[in-house]
Amino acid sequence: MRKPVALVTGANGEIGHALIHALAERGDLAIVALDLNPLPAPLARLCAMTLIGDMLDKNLLERLISEVAVREIYHLAALLSTRSEYTPDTAHRVNVGGTLELLRLAVSQARRDAIPVVFVFPSSIAVYGLPDRETKARAGAIGEGQFNEPTTMYGCNKLYCEHLGRYFHKHFGQLDLTFQPSGVDFRALRFPGLISADSVPSGGTSDWGPELLHAAASGNAYDCFVAPDARLPFMAMPDAVRSILGLANADPSRLRQRVFNVGAFSVSAEEIRGRAERAFPGARLGWAKPGARAAIVDSWPADVDDRAAREQWGWAPEFGVDRAFDEYLIPTLRRRYESPA
Ligand code: SER
Repeated sequence: MRKPVALVTGANGEIGHALIHALAERGDLAIVALDLNPLPAPLARLCAMTLIGDMLDKNLLERLISEVAVREIYHLAALLSTRSEYTPDTAHRVNVGGTLELLRLAVSQARRDAIPVVFVFPSSIAVYGLPDRETKARAGAIGEGQFNEPTTMYGCNKLYCEHLGRYFHKHFGQLDLTFQPSGVDFRALRFPGLISADSVPSGGTSDWGPELLHAAASGNAYDCFVAPDARLPFMAMPDAVRSILGLANADPSRLRQRVFNVGAFSVSAEEIRGRAERAFPGARLGWAKPGARAAIVDSWPADVDDRAAREQWGWAPEFGVDRAFDEYLIPTLRRRYESPA
């Protein structure tokens, strides 16, 4: 009898670290972590198995399902938006090719045991493309169906993978005479920029938020690459993990769509800087001339409308802007960077 497991790809990333702790706490499924790089030992100890390798490696995935029964997939592995603009071909191969491999794995797994596989996919506000700053300011909180015209390779990859997920969920191989359901229960969250007090992201475009805060807390100088009034929706990492597990555990009969916005708070760069300066007096924060990365931020929404997530599976963030800064980010960053006495 193969052991039932939850598979986490991109396990070594920011979300991966936080999610593995939460899955270990949930405790109902053993965890298999997959990443290109080895996990730190304390994290690896929470996993039943750690696989170091490429998710595009078919042999690796085949071996995996011959050894364990994958019941849930948290497919976090991806090249983020800024990195993807430097290497768009690789981004497409990893972000789209990797997702397709994982969806295939989910189908063979689900059909083998005749048990659906829950496939959780973190999508992003990068799927939206607002044409200019005026439209962004006017649009306010935007719904899932609006402005689906991404301006980045990463955004295109995420939007297409959402479509692939919906296709696998419902129509996979629909003209095959032996048609049988795919068994893939696909669920996606469109995340705002995420901010963790425990790690700094790399390769993203919303990175100015966390970079600015970590620099202020650690005493490093930082020049923010967006204009002071640049605004994005953000979410504290504990809420991101709660939303992933909230959607994964949601009653399937209540879900009327596969892809959900999830929101928490919307802030400008100026507001983040103000909060950082008040918390860490002496922080050396400045502004760089806004360039191409700032233009990407201008094409992402200022806020998201997440009513569908609230209504269909009870999404509610625990960290609004004040709690996120005052009760999670600032105190945790202080502890993290405070010099030993
Ligand atoms: N935060 C991500 C990035 O900036 C978007 O999902 O790339």
